[in-house]
Amino acid sequence: MSMSTSCHDGVFTDSVTFVLGTRPEIVKLAPLARLFGERARVAYTGQHYDALMSEIFFTECGLRAPDALLEVGGRTRAEQVGAALCRLDRCFAEGAPSAVVVQGDTNSALAGALAANARGIPLVHVEAGLRSRDRAMPEEHNRILIDHVADLLCAPTEANAANLRAEGIDPRRVAVTGNTVVEALLEALPQPARRAKLLADAGVESGRFVLATVHRPENTDDAGRLAAIMAELTALGEAGRPVLFPVHPRTRAALRSVFRDEPPERVVLCEPLGYRDFLALAAECALLISDSGGIQEEATVLRRPLIVVRRSTERPEALDGFAVLVEPGPAIGEHARALLADVPGVRRRLEGLRSPFGDGQASPRIEALIRERFITPAVPRPTAETVSASV
Ligand code: UD1
Repeated sequence: MSMSTSCHDGVFTDSVTFVLGTRPEIVKLAPLARLFGERARVAYTGQHYDALMSEIFFTECGLRAPDALLEVGGRTRAEQVGAALCRLDRCFAEGAPSAVVVQGDTNSALAGALAANARGIPLVHVEAGLRSRDRAMPEEHNRILIDHVADLLCAPTEANAANLRAEGIDPRRVAVTGNTVVEALLEALPQPARRAKLLADAGVESGRFVLATVHRPENTDDAGRLAAIMAELTALGEAGRPVLFPVHPRTRAALRSVFRDEPPERVVLCEPLGYRDFLALAAECALLISDSGGIQEEATVLRRPLIVVRRSTERPEALDGFAVLVEPGPAIGEHARALLADVPGVRRRLEGLRSPFGDGQASPRIEALIRERFITPAVPRPTAETVSASV
């Protein structure tokens, strides 16, 4: 991206600063950042640094180029958090934002949270209170740490707020807002004509293909689990269900080491897709198979069935009618075959359900809370002088 690699001259002073680092953070915070107009600033950590994983998302989501690029991609978790924290601290030393906003559970979000905390800047955590109870996931530790330092915790659902109460977090710091992914998706979903063109380009028909993604370390860094997932996807392809698989860079490397030069046939591997193209295909597919967090939410807004391939989920709300949680192996194929046997029937059932993740108004709700708590100048308390002057 062509922008400054460091911050300059107090560019963050009195701003609402969004610390972003990965695809989902750009997508989910763009609607809120846009509401702050000229007051919004973006510090991009560069955790996702391939153009297909970052730049295209800024453009598609209507964000201008970041105000600071921290360039911490491709490092270990500790190095990412440490380097981003130091660089943000230098930026904030030149002029403090009125509030720092982070989203979710990435290493970038944790770095943003610690940088705000270190300088006493109010911290807003969007998507607070999610818990997988899986301590093997770095994301679980990241989100717990962020929640405990945040000043305003925006919980997507009542269940998320209950998780925070159970950990003793002061309820005055917590607001149930819904998830910003709902409005992000509704704004970005292409119209049917554009969707039809994409389907033609991909050589698939509406309602007749499977869309799959895999990127979690629990699946990519374990050759047995990755091979088991690919075997099930291959079997679906052999049974006449085309499987499209946009491949995350981590997964591409893992596939190379598991399959050498013979990638699985019958699964159509492609580069990571932009947000609009991904949503278009998700809206038109018969079935989603994924280990992503965000896709669990998006499936409920698009009303498409989803098989979540993971040990655990921090989004149990999606399991209420929309998704099933399975381990890699035959369960994937069993569920897939059952769901693919009656695509119109499954769609009719899902059309009758409401997304548990909100009504598409989370961003304006969060904007109002930030303005009220951290920006609106406090009404001066009446002093003896002002009281006597007014009588
Ligand atoms: C991160 C988040 C995860 C989120 C995901 C969205 C953490 C702990 N995890 O995982 O919660 O669901 O983003 O995609 O923050 N790489 C590239 N090019 C890129 C980005 C990454 O080659 O543009 C490589 C990295 O060098 C690394 C691997 O892919 O080897 C994984 O990247 P990492 O930064 O760990 O993030 P994700 O796995 O994407």
